[in-house]
Parts: sequence; C-alpha cells; structure tokens
Amino acid sequence: MYSILVLHGPNLNLLGRREPGVYGSVALDEIVCRLEEEAQALDVNLVSLQSNHEGVLIDAIHDAFDQHDGILINPGAYTHTSVALRDAIVGVSLPTVEIHLSNIHRREEFRHHSYIAPVAIGQICGFGADSYRLGLHALVTHLQQL
Ligand code: DQA
Repeated sequence: MYSILVLHGPNLNLLGRREPGVYGSVALDEIVCRLEEEAQALDVNLVSLQSNHEGVLIDAIHDAFDQHDGILINPGAYTHTSVALRDAIVGVSLPTVEIHLSNIHRREEFRHHSYIAPVAIGQICGFGADSYRLGLHALVTHLQQL
C-alpha cells in the first residue's frame, strides 16, 4: 500500500472564506475529507498537514524520507519564493506533484514562476478543489509505473 504525504502551505487553512472568487468555497477540511475517500478507493494511505510556517513544511518533507512513497503539495505562496522548500524536495528525492486550486499562469505575473515545478513530476492547477483529486491520481499512477 502506498503512503502519500499531503502538504498544504500558508493561508490554505482559510479556504472556504479566503477570496472565494479565486479559490472556491470548499473548506480545507472538506478537501482533505474528499481526498481521504479517494485514497481509500485507490487503497492508498494519506497523511495530511497544513502549516503557515516554511520550516514546519520542510521538516515534514525531511520526515517523509523513510515514511512515505510520494508527496502531494500545494505550497501556496511559497511556490513563488521558497528555494528551501524546493531543496527539501530534491533532498529526499520523493516523487512530488505540485497542486494549485487556481490557474497560477492566468494570474499576476509573480505567480507564474514556481520554484517547485522543475523538481516535481508535474503541476496541476486551475481545477479548484478537484486539482487535489487529479493530483492524487497522477501521483499514484506514477508510483505504479516505477
Ligand atoms: C495557490 C496559488 C498561490 O499563488 C497562492 O499564493 C496560494 C494558493 C493556489 O492553490 O491556487 O496561496 O497555491
């Protein structure tokens, strides 16, 4: 059974009431709940963590090294700023899928660049809460093909 670490970066705890026109009205708890159901159907174990702190996310990536088979991450704003998060992913060399609710490429220019994308298997963005489900499927399919 595959085990996947799901990381939610800064401000994603506000989902549901944060800029609903951009991020939708589904709360993070609901997203995690839907993902758990999807994981059960795929026979995959999920561990989810949200943090507003870069170091907490980095520690969780380090701890994933011998505990998980892959990482699903919405790095939030750290996508566009964090070399440290990128280095952590490279450091543990676990297959990683980057997720965003919004299509970051259609938004402000500063959101177009991701430090994570070049070290991820791929990036899924623009499908709202469904980006997570699509990302989970993409990651599991990738793991099955290894
Ligand atoms: C986000 C996009 C980021 O640019 C933003 O800073 C977020 C959310 C998304 O899921 O669309 O916090 O990662």
